[in-house]
Amino acid sequence: MITLHALTKVFPGGVRALDDIHLTIADGEFFALLGPSGCGKTTLLRTIAGLETPTGGTVRINGKDVTRLPPGDRDVAMVFQDYAIFPHMDVTTNIAYPLRIRKVPRAERTTRAAGVAARLSLTELLHRRPAELSGGQQQRVALARAIACHPTAFLFDEPLSNLDARLRLEARTFLKRLQRELAVTTVFVTHDQAEALALADRIAVMSEGRMIQVATPAEIFHRPATTFVASFIGSTPMNLLPARATTTALHVAGATLPLPEGVTAGDHLTYGVRPEYMTLSATEGPGAFPGVITVLENLGTHTLVTLEAPGTLIQAVVPEGEEPSLGTPAWATPRRALLYRDGTLHTTP
Ligand SMILES: Nc1ncnc2c1ncn2[C@@H]1O[C@H](COP(=O)(O)OP(=O)(O)O)[C@@H](O)[C@H]1O
Ligand SMILES: [Mg+2]
Repeated sequence: MITLHALTKVFPGGVRALDDIHLTIADGEFFALLGPSGCGKTTLLRTIAGLETPTGGTVRINGKDVTRLPPGDRDVAMVFQDYAIFPHMDVTTNIAYPLRIRKVPRAERTTRAAGVAARLSLTELLHRRPAELSGGQQQRVALARAIACHPTAFLFDEPLSNLDARLRLEARTFLKRLQRELAVTTVFVTHDQAEALALADRIAVMSEGRMIQVATPAEIFHRPATTFVASFIGSTPMNLLPARATTTALHVAGATLPLPEGVTAGDHLTYGVRPEYMTLSATEGPGAFPGVITVLENLGTHTLVTLEAPGTLIQAVVPEGEEPSLGTPAWATPRRALLYRDGTLHTTP
């Protein structure tokens, strides 16, 4: 179990990279830290690893306060974006390196390295040097090195981001299966929302050193706590439409909708609908957003359709073969919506 209490990091020069972080990560959990570049993910991971000292707060691993302990005494293994494997060492020596640091005898090191290598399909490559390996193989060597020392926790900093798109998907599935098998607590940093949704048991969405929402992938996807999370999650951007309440109705992009509870005239409201939860129709219906079809984007099995209305763009995803014609009028009806007040989730009308 990893417990962070009131963790703050202010770098010399004044950047507040972590701002009062409170978090508990359970044993065996696959936990993702997700957020845009510069939001503090790496700083948080390095603080857990002991490579950064926090300005305030504590880090506990399995109940023990490790805040002042050096990295070597924390029993965690970190895998970096650039793998950081040693170019002058062969695969066996790289995998066994942390064991050497711990003064494990040579024969046992070699046996353990070979065992882990077999598990990661690296047996044929044990005598090669990193320059003789593909990116995917180097990545598995870095993983093997992390696994070989049986750590309490794995800390991954964007370990898949140097792989090309296809290999990245394979490596993702592989990593998830491996983590399930080993059942080791894992903290995984990524700026890729799809990766976080696919891998994690829970996700923390970060912005400017703070945790905006900590929840399961399903909860983050269906009930994003703020408009920031709503716009960050999803493979197509969510429609976030300005909404206006009167005493009797909610007005959104040319549609008149029932007034949700707790909303009054003058509130600053945003109506959110994922393009995947819009139904397009060529005829007008109650509560439908009117517009004209202006763009069709091929997504393979689906098409992303843009509907233009005065002052608004609305997007909908339709199955291939069901695309409306460009320039024709259409109506988009939300099947699943979110209403934000002052940027915070208010209700799901
Ligand atoms: N050693 C450092 N000195 C000063 N500022 C830093 C240092 N490392 C990171 N920062 C700043 O802290 C913030 C968070 O950085 P980082 O944790 O690397 O973000 P992320 O990994 O989410 O991209 C950024 O504004 C970054 O510029
Ligand atoms: Mg980073």
